[in-house]
Amino acid sequence: MRKITKAVIPVAGLGTRMLPATKEIPKELLPILDKPVIQYVVEEAVNAGISEIIFVTNTSKGAIKNHFKQNLTLEKYLKEKKKKDTLSKFPNYLFKKINFSSVLQKTPLGLGHAILAAEKKIKNEDFAVFLPDEFLVSKTDKSDFNRMLVNYSKTNQNQILVEKIPKKMISNYGVVKLKSNKISVIKPENILDIIEKPSNRDAPSDKRVVGRYILPSIIFKFLKKTKPGADNEIQLTDALRKMILQNSDSFQATLSESKIFDCGSMKGFVGANIAMGLKDKDLKKHIMETLI
Ligand code: G1P
Repeated sequence: MRKITKAVIPVAGLGTRMLPATKEIPKELLPILDKPVIQYVVEEAVNAGISEIIFVTNTSKGAIKNHFKQNLTLEKYLKEKKKKDTLSKFPNYLFKKINFSSVLQKTPLGLGHAILAAEKKIKNEDFAVFLPDEFLVSKTDKSDFNRMLVNYSKTNQNQILVEKIPKKMISNYGVVKLKSNKISVIKPENILDIIEKPSNRDAPSDKRVVGRYILPSIIFKFLKKTKPGADNEIQLTDALRKMILQNSDSFQATLSESKIFDCGSMKGFVGANIAMGLKDKDLKKHIMETLI
C-alpha cells in the first residue's frame, strides 16, 4: 500500500466570519464541546496514518503551535490533583510520535499560495491537505480521508473529496466535472475538470470540493505559475485544473459520506457542537431537556 505520511494544514486565515470571537483567538482553537477544532482535524489525519503535520501559519497564530506543545505548569498541577484522565487528552500525550512543524505564509494571497509555502517540507512526496474549517462527522467507523487513501492506493490516482450539494450553494466552492455520474461512496470517479467558485449557470455539476486532498508534489510547479483567480486569490483549484486538463487520469473524486459543518461560520460551528453533543449520551439528554 502506498503511504501518505505528511499533511499540510493551512491555518493562516483571519477568521473574519467569526468575529469578535476570533479577534485574539485563532478560529482553529474555537472548541467543539471541550476540544479545539484543530485537534479534531489533527486526530483525523493521525488516525489515518499521518505522522507529520505541517501548519501554514501567520505571525498571529502562535497559540495553535502552543496547543500542541507541553504546558509544564498545567501538567504539574494536574498531576498533583491526580487528574490523569484530563492529562491524557492533551495533544502532547495523544500525539507523542507525531512530528509538528510550521511554515509562514507572510501575506494572505489565497489557498494555493498557502500550500506553496509548504513546498520545502514536502520535497518529492505525495501529501495530504486538510482544510480545518471543514468539520467532518463520519457516519461510519471509517473517515472519508481513510477511504481516499484506499482509493489512492488502489488506483495510483490523486484524490479530492467531494459532496453533492444544492445547486444554489455551488458558487461558494470548487466544483468538479466528473467522467460519469456513477460516483458513489464505494466508487471514486475521474475528474475531467474543476472550477473555482463558478456561477450557478457555469457550474459543471452539483459536486463541490470538500477540504480534503491527496496531492502530488508536482502541484508546486503548477502553483508557481498560477495567477490570481476567483476573489483575486491564488487558487489551489486553478493549479489542479491545469494538471487535470493535461492528464484526465491524474485525479479522482472520492464521494464523502460524512455530515459536514463549516466551522468558520456561525451556523456550521453551532451545528458541529450540536452534532457532537448528540453523540455523547449524557450531553444528548441535556440537549434534549434544554430544547423542550
Ligand atoms: C477553498 C477551495 C474550494 C473548496 C473550499 C472547501 O475555498 O478553494 O475549492 O471547495 O475551500 O472548503 P475557500 O473556503 O477558501 O473559499
